[in-house]
Amino acid sequence: ALVVRHRMRSSGKWARAMAVLREFEEKCSTPIGKLKQVADAMTVEMQAGLASEGGSKLKMLISYVDNLPTGDEKGLFYALDLGGTNFRVLRVQLGGKSGRVVKQEFDEVSIPPHLMTASSEALFDFIAAALAKFVAEEGEGFHPAPGRQRELGFTFSFPVRQLSISSGTLIKWTKGFNIQDTVGQDVVAELTRAMERIGLDMRVAALVNDTIGTLAGGRYTNQDVVAAVILGTGTNAAYVERAHAIPKWHGLLPKSGEMVINMEWGNFRSSHLPLTEYDQGLDVESLNPGEQIFEKMISGMYLGDIVRRVLCKMAEEAEFFGDTVPQNLKVPFILRTPDMSAMHHDTSPDLKVVASKLKDILEISNTSLKMRKTIVELCDIVATRGARLSAAGILGILKKLGRDTVKDGEKQKSVIALDGGLYEHYTKFRSSMEKTLKELLGEEVAANILIEHSNDGSGIGAALLAASHSQYLEVEEP
Ligand code: GLC
Repeated sequence: ALVVRHRMRSSGKWARAMAVLREFEEKCSTPIGKLKQVADAMTVEMQAGLASEGGSKLKMLISYVDNLPTGDEKGLFYALDLGGTNFRVLRVQLGGKSGRVVKQEFDEVSIPPHLMTASSEALFDFIAAALAKFVAEEGEGFHPAPGRQRELGFTFSFPVRQLSISSGTLIKWTKGFNIQDTVGQDVVAELTRAMERIGLDMRVAALVNDTIGTLAGGRYTNQDVVAAVILGTGTNAAYVERAHAIPKWHGLLPKSGEMVINMEWGNFRSSHLPLTEYDQGLDVESLNPGEQIFEKMISGMYLGDIVRRVLCKMAEEAEFFGDTVPQNLKVPFILRTPDMSAMHHDTSPDLKVVASKLKDILEISNTSLKMRKTIVELCDIVATRGARLSAAGILGILKKLGRDTVKDGEKQKSVIALDGGLYEHYTKFRSSMEKTLKELLGEEVAANILIEHSNDGSGIGAALLAASHSQYLEVEEP
């Protein structure tokens, strides 16, 4: 009788834990109808953001890029990419039409976490020092033009109000960065001062967001690229807009008639988004409460932490891991998205990857196979919701471009350049996103829409834009 009673009690706990999971699953659900509402809301907000400054949560930032790479770019250029957990420096020798990329080299440095929240000067000094070291290593195969200053494309992956192609002030930090004295400052001036302090003679020729860099890099290899999406630590998109469809633009109409827009879609928010109590908890405790809600449901910085939060609730309310709540489950961001992905992709029959992640990260051992299967299912719910929402975002852009339908048998291709660690490494996320986009578009339209991985396109893209905005470009005859 004792044994039976014990079993009943523990099955009661199991049922409660499952109830927590099922309720979460239901709140996360993203049927096609709902995704279409999200896409429509995205299109509407895009319009509002283009209409006036502050017209929408979507900032729809003007990039000052009104010409994308043609292939004629020539010379030695540098790029610096700051925005995720790592920052990269790159040099590329561009050979013009015939040569394209003659040679390239890069270096990747991880940013010491304390610098993400220290002072502006400390961060830019660190970056300038790494860049100076990289420049000093410039060797064979690279040909700086004699007597000319080296030029740099600066990929800075945060919302910036551009003042020109080569200057702009930081609107706010996102992702894991939070350095108050940089907000409102011209980040090119900050970098330039740091380069001067260290004695590095270099000029920033272009300041670009990673989405803009990816779009430029994508266009260099494929002329059908119309938009770029980053799914990484954060998430965002950029696309090519017709200049006369940007009411808030009061400058001259560019010759190309086009202007690239950095949407900052991470800050999108809509009543149609399937928000849960866990998302709200994550938001409230984040570095930027109330901001970047779309990003917090989709991107790599956050997915693992949503999983942790649900597990924590299952432990607290239903003793999912026994009668005490494992302490590490309460540590924010302890479960990172790459670990979540490893658990999600575990194909071993006894789910030993799940077991080892639980043990190594959360110090939880003795889990049953049934529990581990439940955890995989939880990862699937969180990743699928993020993937499907990002597909809805892409549909929103295609709608804005009028490319979500086929016009009289037209075969015009639209290519979207994708990059970011989440897209690159989280296979189930990527395939769910791609499958959902097809589903949303329908077979006939989907045949004309291509997603292309633009591997570190953003670095090359920034260098290309530096080339096309070089101070040494011969001025065209009017
Ligand atoms: C964040 C930044 C945005 C960037 C994106 C991807 O959303 O605000 O500028 O493009 O992350 O890195």
